[in-house]
Amino acid sequence: MAKPRRGESLTVTIDDLAFGGEGVGRVDGYVLFVRGGIPGDRLRVRVTDARARYGRAAIEAIEEPSRDRVQPPCAYFGRCGGCRLQHLAYPAQLAFKEKQVRDCLERLGGLGPFELRPILPAPEPYGYRNKMEFTVAGTSGLPVIGLHEADRYDVVLDIDRCLLQSDTMNALLAEVRREVRARGLSVYDQAAEQRLDAGASRGLLRFVTLREGRRTGEAMVNIVAAAPDVETLGPVAETLRARVPAAASVVLNVNAKQASVAVGQEEHLLVGREHITEFLGGVTFQVSANSFFQTNTVQAERLFGIVAEACGLTGSETVLDLYSGTGAISLLLARRCRWVYGIEVSPAAVADALRNGRANGIENCTFLPGEVRHVLPALLRDGVRAEVVVADPPRAGFHPKALSALAALAPERVVYVSCNPATLARDVGDLGRHGYRVEWVQPVDMFPQTPHIEAVARLRRAG
Ligand SMILES: C[S@@+](CC[C@H](N)C(=O)[O-])C[C@H]1O[C@@H](n2cnc3c(N)ncnc32)[C@H](O)[C@@H]1O
Repeated sequence: MAKPRRGESLTVTIDDLAFGGEGVGRVDGYVLFVRGGIPGDRLRVRVTDARARYGRAAIEAIEEPSRDRVQPPCAYFGRCGGCRLQHLAYPAQLAFKEKQVRDCLERLGGLGPFELRPILPAPEPYGYRNKMEFTVAGTSGLPVIGLHEADRYDVVLDIDRCLLQSDTMNALLAEVRREVRARGLSVYDQAAEQRLDAGASRGLLRFVTLREGRRTGEAMVNIVAAAPDVETLGPVAETLRARVPAAASVVLNVNAKQASVAVGQEEHLLVGREHITEFLGGVTFQVSANSFFQTNTVQAERLFGIVAEACGLTGSETVLDLYSGTGAISLLLARRCRWVYGIEVSPAAVADALRNGRANGIENCTFLPGEVRHVLPALLRDGVRAEVVVADPPRAGFHPKALSALAALAPERVVYVSCNPATLARDVGDLGRHGYRVEWVQPVDMFPQTPHIEAVARLRRAG
């Protein structure tokens, strides 16, 4: 294996895609990661980083394109950090995700034979997102509203139109930009915070988050600003609603802290209602600015259908929904079982779950706030038992103590919904040592054009 030098130009054939979607090729056995490369490409690349065991390289020219290479439809592709796989034909994206799930489970989880069901494609490869968060940057004279450049947190691209969101959301984005420019609204400047003593103004606007109930057509604009300036933003909201009648809710969230997050410490209703409504699986959800809600409504409904099938409920079971978020899975399963306990760390999400339960007349759910590793052992001590456990953890997967508590509960079936095949593999490997066998795994494509992978695994306790 001859290690190339940084700056060296060479030819490489890409033969795989890495976890994050980078192309992987080998030159005399030396592994090179190439952003934008896809399997089958022969590329002229320049080495940008040469470490002992692997390096990175940037494409200089495509000498021979892969058969799976397609023209990306978005003008920002390549620079925008939002989508990384638009240049890969959709069937090849699906094959890549399915392979990642198989590789992780076999290599990291050490699983024996199991059924890997074919990945469920998304019916809409574009326009599927019901939520987008745009950053307001630039200067007050020339504001920019858009998404961060790939790996450049300091650069925001002024996005006219994002293909992952609907026409309504794009219309709202255009109107927000027009209003911001026409009214000369100021842009929050973090650096000015430090100079406030010198009389610098820190500016107002920080983020604009758009949401849309895909089944109801109700849209929300959440303006995140550094101050509760309702006087300035109220008329903006009125104009947005007049120009895009779908805007059922325009709210202002105030983040006066330095932390660059699109979540406010206080919320002001500017126009309409403080929430929008969405239907999913026969349940109505009220979604407010800071509520978690699955970002692909259509695929979430199909994902949850697979979860329900995997649970195999007859009506008499007690179900635990670990990492229950705003309760979508609990509420969808409640009609098919005796009782559901949801456990969720975010108090705001628990409050949403309780409200959504009440609004749908669902009375057989209990939502418990706290970390699974603390609440689950407490439930066990209280004598709660469950035949079925559904778990939809964040990317980090289970905490070891949460996994031990699950093993102590010893449900007949575990249905694991994962957004990270690596931690799925680790956790089902651990559950295997506690007597659980993976029956089948079903990958679901929730996020076309991105390398994100979702999968449902059904496990059964042996004996
Ligand atoms: C992938 S989301 C689950 C979403 C949920 N199934 C839904 O559709 O609303 C993961 C959830 O786990 C929660 N969470 C993260 N760490 C947790 C922990 N240690 N204990 C309990 N909940 C946790 C997050 O707040 C988040 O709501």
